[in-house]
Amino acid sequence: MPPPQSTDDIRQAYLDFFRSKDHTVIPGASLIPENDPTVLFTTAGMHPLVPYLLGESHPGGNRLTDCQRCVRTQDIDEVGDSSHLTMFEMLGNWSLGDYFKEGAIQMSYEFLTTVLEIPVHHLAVTCFVGDSDAPKDEEAATIWMNLGIPEDRIGFLPKKDNWWGPAGQTGPCGPDTEMFYWIGQGEPHGNPAENDSDWMEIWNDVFMQYDKQDDGSFVPLAQQNVDTGMGLERVAAVMQGVKNVYETDRMKPIVEKVESGKGKEERDTIKHVRIVTDHIKAATFIIADGARPSNVDQGYVLRKLIRRAIRSAKQLDIETSGQFCATIAKEVVAQYGHIYGHIRDQEKLIADVFAQEEQQFAKTLQAGMRQIEKVIAAVQGNTISGDDAFHLYDTYGFPLELTREIAAEQGLAIDEDAFHKAFEHHQELSRQGAEQKFSGGLADHSSETTKLHTATHLLNAALRTVLGDHVYQKGSNITKERLRFDFSHDEKMTNEQRQAVERLVNDAIEKDLPISFHVTDVEGAKKEGAIGVFDDRYASEVKVYVIGEGKDVFSKEICGGPHVARTGMLGSFTLKKEESSSSGVRRIKATVQGGPAEITVAKEVESGKWREERE
Ligand code: ALA
Repeated sequence: MPPPQSTDDIRQAYLDFFRSKDHTVIPGASLIPENDPTVLFTTAGMHPLVPYLLGESHPGGNRLTDCQRCVRTQDIDEVGDSSHLTMFEMLGNWSLGDYFKEGAIQMSYEFLTTVLEIPVHHLAVTCFVGDSDAPKDEEAATIWMNLGIPEDRIGFLPKKDNWWGPAGQTGPCGPDTEMFYWIGQGEPHGNPAENDSDWMEIWNDVFMQYDKQDDGSFVPLAQQNVDTGMGLERVAAVMQGVKNVYETDRMKPIVEKVESGKGKEERDTIKHVRIVTDHIKAATFIIADGARPSNVDQGYVLRKLIRRAIRSAKQLDIETSGQFCATIAKEVVAQYGHIYGHIRDQEKLIADVFAQEEQQFAKTLQAGMRQIEKVIAAVQGNTISGDDAFHLYDTYGFPLELTREIAAEQGLAIDEDAFHKAFEHHQELSRQGAEQKFSGGLADHSSETTKLHTATHLLNAALRTVLGDHVYQKGSNITKERLRFDFSHDEKMTNEQRQAVERLVNDAIEKDLPISFHVTDVEGAKKEGAIGVFDDRYASEVKVYVIGEGKDVFSKEICGGPHVARTGMLGSFTLKKEESSSSGVRRIKATVQGGPAEITVAKEVESGKWREERE
């Protein structure tokens, strides 16, 4: 059989190959992580598998493979080069305490050279150079050499390059070995440690043997895992002999659709065409997985993607006041709907979301025109400040070029250095913030969020009392202003049910119940009837928070905390909204108000038997 060339065939060949090596093919997960507040998006195939990498048994066994849609927002402002995408498909294979370095590298090598038939001299690899956390990975390098990779094609690099994870701030991680394809001029030579720009990374085998802790230390995991990720779009570029991911079979028709609407020919427009293509593709998948444009969380990123796409479209002189994004999204569905049925099924809804946001943005831009007139009227001297220009960019979506043009018409300049400083500062903040927004669920331990966190436990317990034991937390998100709680339940709540839940929570608050926690093992927690939230990702030792005491125990839940010391500190609870979140999942938004500004937090009381025995 000739090697696979199309994106669809490569995807299938990968899954078939690993199936033939006793891997279970599992479905990819949603882009919006379920029950995991540590990241906004699924950023790698390993992400939905974290509990299993930490030791939970997987129903599919110890060898798994899949194709996972991923979104990475850290480079969002740099999209437009030849190989970076906001959303991409990651092919992966996993060993959960089964094969390790030798098995992983052998299978990678076999797939690359036998199934894809890539000539060995077009390949190079890198291994971890070693530091105080882990030794130099001579073992991986030797395995590569024994397979036939020449020594001069093996580079050693530090953590920044050859260490992967954790996906959030804590969790499984380890040294990795990366595989590269020659994209330089002339005969392949060197390796990425020497001539980096000649090589494109296509695959990464991570040897996950550490669990990174809150304090930054690396604790060896009980089991040695392998986590791999191959960039499907990049491998498609390799197999199709094209220079960049935008020219591959599934991306190109989207690029062409964008180009067909553009007006300007003379300027260098390729970057803008790519931004539109990438962003609308990513946004299509994010919408299909349940997010909607908003000013927070995934919705914020989605809005940013759509608006950046529209801004770039404007640079291409494309008309964007209603249907442009939807037209491109339609092409995305045409290219990917046969593989991702959920985007095809929601095509109409996706088009509506895009159209609405596009119209909304047109209004914002009009408001921006009024704002820039104000700025110009108030300007001192003949220079618009960097902050004003950035405000126009950030809030009203005005690209610097547009502000510059309008300013120039009035004989004004812009303090561009200050603009770029503000821009970089903002970029740094969003980079730090976007993907690791809620470390451990509650990065922000302010009194407001702590109160809302406790209110979430009360709400969870009240819902189970009113609606039944089928209610389980499906997601939780807390800001300073409100809690948002997703739970399993099939129907809209009636007014009576809403009132009953609100009353139960407020009764518990009025009783001013004490709150405490104790430490026990997961089994012990289950036995005492604690509700589990992130059931299969717990370490062996968990904290159980108990609200109330004696026969007045209102709630018992496994949780990292913190919580307030007494329910009275919540003041009063209001259920603001109950709506559908996704199929079989309802969403509640609620607030608390009137409690004290300063709170004390719940303390540890007696510890479980297991812990006493150990001490
Ligand atoms: N999780 C690894 C990566 O994303 C495979 O590169």
